[in-house]
Amino acid sequence: MNFELNEEQKMLKEMVHHFAENEINPVAKELEQKREFPSALIKKLAELGLMGMSVPEKYGGSETGSLSVSLVIEELSRVSPSLAVIFSVHSSLFCFSISQFGTEEQKSKYLTKAAEAKILGAFSLSESEAGSDATALKTCFEKKGDTYILNGIKTWVTSGKNANAYILFAKAKTASEKPKLSAFIVDKDSPGLKITKVEDKMGLHSSLTSEITLEDCEIPSSNILGSEGQGTKIAFHCLDRSRIGIAAQSVGLATRCLEEAMQYSKQRQAFGQSISSFQAIQFKIADMATLLDASRLLTYRAAYLSDEGKPYSKESAMAKLFASEAANKLAYEALQIHGGYGYSKEFLIEQLYRDARVLTIYEGTSEIQRLVISRYLLR
Ligand code: CAA
Repeated sequence: MNFELNEEQKMLKEMVHHFAENEINPVAKELEQKREFPSALIKKLAELGLMGMSVPEKYGGSETGSLSVSLVIEELSRVSPSLAVIFSVHSSLFCFSISQFGTEEQKSKYLTKAAEAKILGAFSLSESEAGSDATALKTCFEKKGDTYILNGIKTWVTSGKNANAYILFAKAKTASEKPKLSAFIVDKDSPGLKITKVEDKMGLHSSLTSEITLEDCEIPSSNILGSEGQGTKIAFHCLDRSRIGIAAQSVGLATRCLEEAMQYSKQRQAFGQSISSFQAIQFKIADMATLLDASRLLTYRAAYLSDEGKPYSKESAMAKLFASEAANKLAYEALQIHGGYGYSKEFLIEQLYRDARVLTIYEGTSEIQRLVISRYLLR
């Protein structure tokens, strides 16, 4: 058993760490405050070759695997949890779906551009009454000649307004209540597609989350991903993979919480000494570091299994469950250590506390992860 990253992985993590410190950190707070999408940073990620990490070499990517993608997400999230989720959705949901289930034509058309960030990808499964119960969605498709016509309203689409294309899920117009879904690649400029809302969220403000309305939206029939009825499996297969990304996002955010808490506790004086000299604070720091280590190990293990071609659905759910809950605990304790200042927007911890909250919700709530884990154990 080896707990060390290999040389290539260490170099990648270090490279992204430096990039994050030098290029992202100086602008991240302003982007959050202005609720501005980080388009320029995404371009820079592409210049570093990172936007094609889930794209096969044949299409201009590096297909480096889940562990490397997780390392990048972790480092991005340490400075910008918003950029981390934009990257994760593009890489682990959009590019990964097409590279796994796309035709040659779809791969050439979308993946090559996605690797260069000429296309930013998103994933559109949820609806107002279909979140955890994803297959209860109402958006429907009908085949008409060489086209599919889509109708419905999709919600909570990360990067929805800024992406150029979506992996979008729908059911057949004639289908029953709980049908098999189908997956489509839908270009944002398809006729009949409109961005109808940008959510006013609690956190992750520079990751814009949108509602998409499809009114007789017309796409070429060649844009179906896989075959009709294969969409449910595509969605859950890709979510297994991308949940590792959210675990990595949680690890990155939690790392920053610990750093901020340690730094503040050394500076802040009370009762004539720095508060880091009090056991009450020391024990908090020890518990935070232990939770963080456990989160990181679960995340890397799930990614490693995926890269080894071994089953990893249960482990991905465990990593997402544990790391996202842990990130919230770290954010809570880090803010507590900051005292009143932690409640002020002047300190980063206020933002991290808000950003952490969604980690136990999107890409499957903690309750859904427990359902997945227990099904594997008890079946
Ligand atoms: N891989 C491949 N196929 C899978 C699978 C997996 N991991 N898990 C299930 N399936 C297949 C099943 O085999 C079944 O296929 P058949 O009908 O052919 O037998 C089909 O999918 C349906 O499976 P279930 O009957 O188990 O489905 P269910 O209705 O009981 O739901 C669930 C299971 C675990 C609750 C699932 O609905 C789920 O994960 N819900 C959460 C949805 C979610 O994570 N949404 C996130 C939205 S995306 C997002 O947040 C992105 C973003 O922008 C940040």
